[in-house]
Amino acid sequence: MLKGKRILLVISGGIAAYKALELIRRLRERGASVRCVLSRSAAHFVTPLSVSALSGDKVYGEIFSLTDEAEMGHIQLSRDADLLVVAPASADLLARMAAGMADDLAATVLLATDKPVLVAPAMNVRMWTHPATQRNVAQLQADGVQFVGPVDGAMACNEYGPGRMSEPMEILAAIEAQFAGGIRAPFHAGAPDALTPITSQPLAGKKVIVTSGPTHEPIDPVRYIANRSSGKQGHAIATALAQAGADVILVSGPVNLPDPKGVRVIRVETARDMFSACFLNLPADAAIFAAAVADWRVAVESDKKLKKTGDVAPSLQMAENPDILRAIANTDAKRRPALVVGFAAETDHVVDYARAKLDKKACDWILANDASPQSGVFGGDENTVHLVTRDGVEDWPRMSKQAVAEKLTARIADFFKSGVVDA
Ligand SMILES: Cc1cc2nc3c(=O)[nH]c(=O)nc-3n(C[C@H](O)[C@H](O)[C@H](O)COP(=O)(O)O)c2cc1C
Repeated sequence: MLKGKRILLVISGGIAAYKALELIRRLRERGASVRCVLSRSAAHFVTPLSVSALSGDKVYGEIFSLTDEAEMGHIQLSRDADLLVVAPASADLLARMAAGMADDLAATVLLATDKPVLVAPAMNVRMWTHPATQRNVAQLQADGVQFVGPVDGAMACNEYGPGRMSEPMEILAAIEAQFAGGIRAPFHAGAPDALTPITSQPLAGKKVIVTSGPTHEPIDPVRYIANRSSGKQGHAIATALAQAGADVILVSGPVNLPDPKGVRVIRVETARDMFSACFLNLPADAAIFAAAVADWRVAVESDKKLKKTGDVAPSLQMAENPDILRAIANTDAKRRPALVVGFAAETDHVVDYARAKLDKKACDWILANDASPQSGVFGGDENTVHLVTRDGVEDWPRMSKQAVAEKLTARIADFFKSGVVDA
């Protein structure tokens, strides 16, 4: 996907600058060419020699260099790329970008560009949460700049919280998603069609059903059986698919999350409600079943609150819930989505169980994730998944749920382009 793509990587002045070296390697491994610009203080954190050796190109940093201007003017530098990536993006550079300043080469190329810009902020948690930085981020988002991260984590300054730069593999996934998802140019006031994406949205015209969250299975009017799913992964997938142009129907169990923008949301409570909502919305081009659907419900729900009666605790008779993934994967060809994707949350033998599930359910792909308590996946912001298809298993590195959603969306776009997926 990145073969032949030209990335202009701006490295600014922060401790995370060393991670830019790994990003350069990963980009080049995938066939992209990488040209690097150092901000005015970046060379305090990473040596131009290392950047040049890994990028296989000259490194740019001086705005008033006669040689550089003669060889590659700052305007050409900013235009001669498919995508500009700022990693790490310091608080200072974000502020200068938001203010439209051009006081070093990095800020100048970012102001002079008409290409899409993706930034990966990295800074101390207080710098990130400071109202000034948040104002700058909001301004840049309004200008059409895309963000990956920052994430929560331990920092070099011994504090913990949001501000840590996304890992290079996550930034890579966001870059791939930019190319797969139809890159947007920054919005320039006065540009003829500022809101039109440069490339078409790859999933435009595709209808996709996504399920998300837990289900609640009532015991009586006040009690229910539930699970720990937060819905964060399913909602992130719905958001990413909608951004790629899909017509998304999100069938969501009870969650504490806002509705994703540009998505039709159907709220349900039980597995049976979710089953009906999914079937009612067929046919669809793809269905992504990210919800943690209860396997069983209480066979006979009491219409009155169960009361303590003496010493004997009530025993609950369970009944099996409908299997939404299997039912839709095996439905008639006229209604079956061309791509049916299930999730497998396992606490052990994650990939083996996922392979077995792929066959048992007759779905097309399974995204398997480790749901053991130590993985922190339930309710957390990160996920480690394996994409299991009939052709093999692809292990994705640990990344944010948003990055998983974007990578999956890129894969789905590939599927509809070629009808297959590499694994
Ligand atoms: C040791 C050290 C580490 C720093 N780390 C960061 C950082 O991670 N993020 C950040 O925004 N600023 C950081 N700073 C502050 C920036 O380097 C400073 O604001 C600088 O002016 C940024 O320049 P730039 O616009 O070229 O990135 C750090 C400073 C020092 C001395």
